[in-house]
Amino acid sequence: MSIIAIANQKGGCGKTTTSVNLSSAIALSSKKVLLIDLDPQSHATLGLNISSQNSIYNVLSNYTSEKLSLKDVIVNVETNFDVAPANILLGTLEQELSDEIGRELKLTEAIETVEKDYDYVLIDCPPNLGILTVNAIRAAQEVIIPVEPSRFSLIGVDRLVEIIDLISTRLNHPVKYRLLITMFDSRLRHSFQILNAIKEKYSANLFKTIIHTNVKLKEASMSGQSAVTYAKYSRGSKDYFYLASELMYRKEASIDNLMRQLVREKVKQLSEITFSLHDPNAQDVYLVGDFNNWKASEENRLTRDDNGSWIKRLALRSGTYHYKFVVDGEWQEDPSNPNKEENNFGGYNSLIEI
Ligand SMILES: Nc1ncnc2c1ncn2[C@@H]1O[C@H](COP(=O)(O)OP(=O)(O)OP(=O)(O)O)[C@@H](O)[C@H]1O
Ligand SMILES: [Mg+2]
Repeated sequence: MSIIAIANQKGGCGKTTTSVNLSSAIALSSKKVLLIDLDPQSHATLGLNISSQNSIYNVLSNYTSEKLSLKDVIVNVETNFDVAPANILLGTLEQELSDEIGRELKLTEAIETVEKDYDYVLIDCPPNLGILTVNAIRAAQEVIIPVEPSRFSLIGVDRLVEIIDLISTRLNHPVKYRLLITMFDSRLRHSFQILNAIKEKYSANLFKTIIHTNVKLKEASMSGQSAVTYAKYSRGSKDYFYLASELMYRKEASIDNLMRQLVREKVKQLSEITFSLHDPNAQDVYLVGDFNNWKASEENRLTRDDNGSWIKRLALRSGTYHYKFVVDGEWQEDPSNPNKEENNFGGYNSLIEI
């Protein structure tokens, strides 16, 4: 089981968006994923439309009237994608745990109870370096640090990396980290300047994948879904598929296969249709119809074979289409197709159903 914390004490840098969409992209490649919402703001929980009485607070707190195990609070949101929700009570844990021995191990112990149930556990951290974030880093083998390219975005990263190193050495728990560029706007020059600065400083700890600014990521969270399901062909969704691929690369076959499958699905909706007309004496034949605005233009010209047949192949979606051939300037029906429909010009159009 891989455990990954998504952390950065800077607010609004894309932690929750990354947690939700990366989880969803990994789940789509048939891996079982648990996303733990460890932020009292509960944005991942709310962004996935989960309304649950219980939360990870009931698992981690000793003061709750209803102590539960991690399994008890888990909610399923998509195939292979479960969530341990958060609520505002989580905010009180900092104080509750302040005197407790082994307080930084609470989450590690909880995750051990679901060890066999998941391939990946992702943890969405709050925007601070308190005990919840320390718990997440202690439980994780890797920390993803989302960074949006703004002037002050790197200020806290050094501090976070220091804490990761401290946990690695003092708590005897090796954990690596990688920065992830988020909300990259390729129209802005300063985005590239900051990207170069980040590359210079963190080249060994940087994901190749860049998450671009994409409105579908925002819309998806407002509609209570990940963008990977809400708009799976959007740029935002694709970026997170690539991130999943990069993350999983060493362990499994690339998720590129999944992207290819999605493209194939889309292409499958198209059928290749061959239109043909046998007329050895014709000089010029065009195919015109609903599918090309009835335009006898060069791209709609048929090709003549050696036997005097004119051929045109088109990829069309399912539906009903009207068409005609234009033979040396004369419009005519398809003589090999008995299906036709009267048109507004007192004649007939050939009809094809796909
Ligand atoms: N690539 C993106 N393109 C467009 N909007 C984005 C993108 N990533 C995040 N956002 C939006 O930016 C806002 C902040 O993102 P998000 O909630 O993921 O950040 P966060 O680091 O989790 O914030 P917090 O520190 O408050 O937990 C959200 O409204 C989100 O929809
Ligand atoms: Mg968040």
